Amino acid sequence: MLRACLGEPVDRPPVWLMRQAGRVLPEYRAIKERSSFLEMCGDPEIATDVSLQPFRRFGMDGVVVFSDILLPLQDLGVKLSFNPSPVVANPIEGTGDLDRIEGSVEKSMASTCQAIRLLKRELGDRAAVIGFAGAPWTLAAYACERSLSRDIAVLSQASYAQPRFVQELLDRLAKVTADTLQMQIDAGADVLQIFDTWAGMLSAPRFKEFAGRALRDVIQLLPADRPPVIVFARGAAHLVDELADLGAEVVSLDWRTDFAQAVERIGQRVSLQGNLEPTALAGSAEQITRSVNELARIGRGARGHILNLGHGLLPSIPIEGVAAFVKAAQNAGGYSGTGH
Ligand code: CP3
Repeated sequence: MLRACLGEPVDRPPVWLMRQAGRVLPEYRAIKERSSFLEMCGDPEIATDVSLQPFRRFGMDGVVVFSDILLPLQDLGVKLSFNPSPVVANPIEGTGDLDRIEGSVEKSMASTCQAIRLLKRELGDRAAVIGFAGAPWTLAAYACERSLSRDIAVLSQASYAQPRFVQELLDRLAKVTADTLQMQIDAGADVLQIFDTWAGMLSAPRFKEFAGRALRDVIQLLPADRPPVIVFARGAAHLVDELADLGAEVVSLDWRTDFAQAVERIGQRVSLQGNLEPTALAGSAEQITRSVNELARIGRGARGHILNLGHGLLPSIPIEGVAAFVKAAQNAGGYSGTGH
C-alpha cells in the first residue's frame, strides 16, 4: 500500500474499501446492539476490534481506524449527536461563533489514537493502518447546519453572502484537520486520508478559492516526513487537475470519474485510488471480478493504483460482494511503477 502511494513497483494493486469497518458484518451489528456509535468510538478496544473485523475476514491491505470525521468538533464547542446521521445542536452561524473553533482536539481524538496504537501492535507489517480526518470545507458544511441539507445550502450561501467569515472558518478548521492528522501520525498511522465529501459541489474556480485552498493549507501544516496523504472528494470529476495539485500523494476518485481519463490527466503526477461504484458490489462475483480486472488494467497506466470503491461501502451490500472485490484485487497483476 505504501509503495503504491509513492508510485513504486508492486506485485499487485493493494486493496481496501472506504467505510469498510463494521457496516456489512454481523459481528459489527452484534456490538452495535449494545453500544451507541459515539460509545464505540470512545472505547479504544471496541474501535480496534471493529477496525480489525473486515481484515480478519478478507485480509485487506489497509485497515481504517473506526472513528468519525466529526469527532474533533466536539472539542470545539459543537454539540454533536448521531441519529444515525449527524445532528449539530448549536451550529456555527457567523463571525461571533468563530472563537469556538479553536483549541486542542486531544480529548475527542484520544480514543481513536489509542486504537491506532493497538492496531499497529496487532497488525505489524501485515496491513497499513489508515488514519483520517474531514477536510475543512466538509467539516464546515456540517458545523454550519443542524442537519446537513443535500445541497449544503447554509455554507454555500454563506460563501457568497459572508465570504470573509467562511474563509476565516476554513482557516481555523484547516488547523483542526491538521492537528487531528498530526495526532494520528504520532500514534503511528501509516497512511492518512482526508475526506472532502462535499467539495464536488463547488465549480473549479470556487473549489480553488475555498475547499482547495484549505486542503492545501492542511497538507502544508503537516511535517515534511509525514506519511502519504490520500485526498478524496465525491462528485469531483471536474476537479481532478485541482486535486492533483494539492500536495497529496494519492487522489481518490469517485465512481463517476472516468478512470482512464484520470490516469491520462493526472496519473503520472499522483497515484490514484478507486473507483468502483459502491452498488456494483451487489452484482455477481463474476461481474465484480471483471470490473476489478478492468480497473486494475487501466490503473497500470498510472504511477500507482490502490483498488477501492468510488465512495463508502453501503450497509446493504451482501458480504459476498465484499469478498469477491477483495479476492479479485488480490489476484490482479502488478505494475512496474514510474514514480519515486
Ligand atoms: O470504515 C469505517 O466506517 C471507518 C470509520 C468512518 C465512519 N465515518 C464511521 C461512521 C469513516 C471513515 C467515516 C467518514 C465520514 N463520516 C465521512 C466521510 C466519508 C463519506 O462517507 O463521505 C462523513 C461525511 C461522515 C459524517 C457522518 N457520520 C455521516 C454522514 C454519518 C451518517 C450516515 C452514515 O454514513 O453512516 C455518520 C455516522 C457514522 N460514521 C456511522 C459510522 C459507522 C454510523 C453510525 C450509526 O450507524 O449509528
